[in-house]
Amino acid sequence: MQVTLTVNGEELTREIEPRLLLVHFLRDTLELTGTHWGCDTSNCGACVVLMDGMPVKSCTVLAAMAGGHEIRTIESMEQDVARHVNELRRAHDRLPLGIDRTLSRVAREYACALARRGTLSHEGPSRQSVGDQVKAAGKPFRMVGENLAWNQNAQNPASSAVNGCMQSPGHRENILQAGFSETGIGICRRGSAYYFTQVFLRPA
Ligand code: FES
Repeated sequence: MQVTLTVNGEELTREIEPRLLLVHFLRDTLELTGTHWGCDTSNCGACVVLMDGMPVKSCTVLAAMAGGHEIRTIESMEQDVARHVNELRRAHDRLPLGIDRTLSRVAREYACALARRGTLSHEGPSRQSVGDQVKAAGKPFRMVGENLAWNQNAQNPASSAVNGCMQSPGHRENILQAGFSETGIGICRRGSAYYFTQVFLRPA
């Protein structure tokens, strides 16, 4: 059967199996892997997406049922963070940051590590520094920075995270640092909480 729906602002049509779950459609068909499949009991909330603005567990919804609806995933929220940060940079006469896929991968992995730990920390028992991670991912750099944030039950989690960072001198400095030119953003959900990681880079 065919399904037509809007995902992160783009209308698309795909051929699907009638019993395909929305979580698998997003992850496997559209490769939007920011939506996680974290349990078999519909309890963990890792799979939550917005359907017409309302949170739904995508492991409980058939992709066919999403036809005609608008879906927003974690990737859309990451784009919102990038847009908001670049608006702030423009307002302060800074050049916008370009999104780098490698930095986004590093940021997503760390955001999900934070979500699993349920705590914010730039360092952990088994964690390399952000610089070590970026180097290990094959990105040489002259300068690197990292902002972490989390929030729960925020009406707009992406804006809340960026606004919160602007209240903290160190995080604000990263957002407005003229030397940075690239960024990667990762968001991971645990229960009703969102964990954010943004990596900033000046390439070598
Ligand atoms: S995968 Fe756990 S609630 Fe959906």
